[in-house]
Amino acid sequence: MKKIITNGTIVTAADQYEADILIEDGKIAAIGERLTADGAEIVDAKGAYIFPGGIDPHTHLEMPFGGTVTVDDFETGTTAAAFGGTTTVIDFCLTNKGEPLKNAIKTWHDKSRDKAVIDYSFHLMIGEVNEQVLEEIPLVIEEEGITSFKVFMAYKNVFQADDETLFRTLLFAKEHGALVMVHAENGDVIEHLVKEALDSGKTDPIYHALTRPPEVEGEATHRAAQLTGLADSQLYVVHVSCAEAMEKIADARKKGYRIYGETCPQYLVLDQTALEKPDFEGAKYVWSPPLREKWNQEELWKGLANGQLHTLGSDQCSFNFKGQKELGRGDFTKIPNGGPMIEDRFSILYSEGVEKGRISLNQFVDIVSTKIAKLFGLFPQKGTIAVGSDADLVIFDPTAERVISAETHHMAVDYNAFEGMTIKGEPVSVLSRGEFVIRDKAFVGKPGAGKYLKRKRFADVSNSAKKRVTFQQ
Ligand code: URP
Ligand code: ZN
Ligand code: ZN
Ligand code: ZN
Repeated sequence: MKKIITNGTIVTAADQYEADILIEDGKIAAIGERLTADGAEIVDAKGAYIFPGGIDPHTHLEMPFGGTVTVDDFETGTTAAAFGGTTTVIDFCLTNKGEPLKNAIKTWHDKSRDKAVIDYSFHLMIGEVNEQVLEEIPLVIEEEGITSFKVFMAYKNVFQADDETLFRTLLFAKEHGALVMVHAENGDVIEHLVKEALDSGKTDPIYHALTRPPEVEGEATHRAAQLTGLADSQLYVVHVSCAEAMEKIADARKKGYRIYGETCPQYLVLDQTALEKPDFEGAKYVWSPPLREKWNQEELWKGLANGQLHTLGSDQCSFNFKGQKELGRGDFTKIPNGGPMIEDRFSILYSEGVEKGRISLNQFVDIVSTKIAKLFGLFPQKGTIAVGSDADLVIFDPTAERVISAETHHMAVDYNAFEGMTIKGEPVSVLSRGEFVIRDKAFVGKPGAGKYLKRKRFADVSNSAKKRVTFQQ
């Protein structure tokens, strides 16, 4: 059914203006003053901002990790995402060495297909590069539309890949026009520091942070950046937690390397002291990279404002405190790594960023949606408000105020890392391809309504003239 959203202020990464939006067949059919259309439902957005739906480029829904599985699956995770103003998620599909990539992708399709309430896509983990993998890559790109590949430089003996694997991934990504993503921490050094800590009886959650200092993130970020320059490829560094790593990205960008940085809400508003909470509560804040000393927060905000960092991902990877985080009582290495961030990513960036004057309204849209769509081959279908784009829209009340709490959140997980935080601004209604998923703060969506998104190659969306030539078909 046709809809006209009226009386709102449209905000994109570039503009801010008052106009009506006509939605037809799930797409934006027109933008203009005093639009009319036969039989259209009129949606009054008086006093609200209309943002393009948020895109979360970093989630781990129903993911096996640390001997257990994340509690939020594609249904609860995407429902919570929608409440928070996110209309697309890109989840990490894990692979197993020696197994065809297509098996892993099938597993991820099976766990998402009938559950997602908003659109979704996958990145693919690369754990090894061999003949079989290289043979499958073109199919993965062409048939699945998976155009981003993730390499872990940490989690030794679990996900960690060696430098040759990272380098070969950068090379095939250049060849095929894909974006390489790295979890940048030096897993070998972490293993040594962890062993030393455990040997001297240091078992509390805080030692998770102390055995993964900023240097190990900075070193791995620098290494990945250098290899990217050498390969003349493109790199996206996930979950940048500290100034040390951010500076390595900035240095590489000064040299002209195509490197992009993502940070996450947790690094912008929480700090390392959370891991020292009594009664083992510190375990709720155990994820990797760890929370840092507080001064890093303002550096990351500056990075978002001045373009050293580009996007905000949630790194949603939720484990219950009861029964899951508790696995690590007496040994911090057994605390499953990860936290629940999918729901509050969008609002925290607005409240702490725009409301507190750290970033502009247009930068907010860019960081939470537009730049992500561009980097991951979804633009302009997603990530903006324009004629022909999907009608993924957030009707946002900038005057609303709420307090974040596990009692009221929509994730399945039993705690909220931002418990008690006051947030200014709230999504009131959220549309996915023209249909309400959230209407007046109530869920009206449907599991299975979310569609799998095939994405364009990095080469096809890159603004670099050099790349256009390199990848011209
Ligand atoms: O601790 C984290 N971040 N868990 C999720 C997996 C990852 O490293 O992104
Ligand atoms: Zn990671
Ligand atoms: Zn160096
Ligand atoms: Zn992650």
